[in-house]
Amino acid sequence: MKLKKILSIAATGIVSLSLLAGCGGDNNANNGSSEDAGAKPVTLRLAHNQPEDHPVHASLMELSKLTDENSDGSVKVEIFPNGQLGQERDVIELVKSGTLDMTKVSASALEAFDSNYGIFSLPYIFQSKEHYYEVMDNSEAVQEIFQGTKDDGFIAIGWYDAGQRSIYTVDKKVTSPDDMSGLKIRVQESPTSISMIEAMGGAPTPMSYGEVYTSLQQGVIDGAENNETALTNSKHGEVAKAYTYTEHQYVPDVLIVSTAMWEKLSDDQRNAIQEAAKASSESHKDAWKKAIEKSVNASKEMGVTFYTIDKQAFIDAASPLHEAYKQQSEQNAAFFDDFQSFLK
Ligand code: GCU
Repeated sequence: MKLKKILSIAATGIVSLSLLAGCGGDNNANNGSSEDAGAKPVTLRLAHNQPEDHPVHASLMELSKLTDENSDGSVKVEIFPNGQLGQERDVIELVKSGTLDMTKVSASALEAFDSNYGIFSLPYIFQSKEHYYEVMDNSEAVQEIFQGTKDDGFIAIGWYDAGQRSIYTVDKKVTSPDDMSGLKIRVQESPTSISMIEAMGGAPTPMSYGEVYTSLQQGVIDGAENNETALTNSKHGEVAKAYTYTEHQYVPDVLIVSTAMWEKLSDDQRNAIQEAAKASSESHKDAWKKAIEKSVNASKEMGVTFYTIDKQAFIDAASPLHEAYKQQSEQNAAFFDDFQSFLK
């Protein structure tokens, strides 16, 4: 986001100018010392793009509460929902530069900043929810990717379940890749997701999440792909009435923090946040399941029809992406094998 835009947000009073101070001034902890005795209290700003009734917002509020408790009040996390500080690309930039402390974004959005994140957008890489959870909670490759951007200004310290992504359109029922022909499908700004829709036979249209509703309404796109909360919490179900369970991706939401801020915290403060991230990620799993059931029911009331299909043709269409990914580098191949090793 341009500095001018941030300033105008600040000027309209949505967010105080202190945000621009980032981790400076009062926001400083103890200047890199790992002794906790003198750790100054800090308030960290966390921005994300979901509305306040979204399950991820509730889990981030939990993160905030637990961080406060774990740190005996020495770390507060203040949350700015609704994309009020910008779209995912914008807030990642803000975190990278240290202007914003934390954000929760889709792993797909991070691919534009570090190609290693592309693995999370590979269609059908996770073969079940259990496989997905096992990898996200235990894989060394995930930790390597999470820490790998330290010198680029941010690291990831946790993740939240964001369900399975499926195709939905304004009105066309999609049952096979043949039905995708000519359909303009919005994807995240992720090279892997773009290639995925191409491989599935559609026309990928990358754009930020905040633009999707209007683009569906104005016919700029014929459909999009996401979990079911997009239909309800983001109201896409008002316009898009045909949701097909292609279940092509499990893309996690990722909690990232600015390296500059992280290094200023004391060890105890970092642990307090890290533990809170872990606990809120865990409780989020159950909350997510309930939220999806609620979303499906509410979507049906909005007139959305859900189609269950034989996914094999989509799996076959997307499978060359796996080979292409592995061929790109030895590191990719190692990450891929690591993910596969969690298959039971
Ligand atoms: C999911 C994800 C968001 C992301 C969105 C998208 O809803 O949780 O972080 O912005 O997908 O498709 O852009």
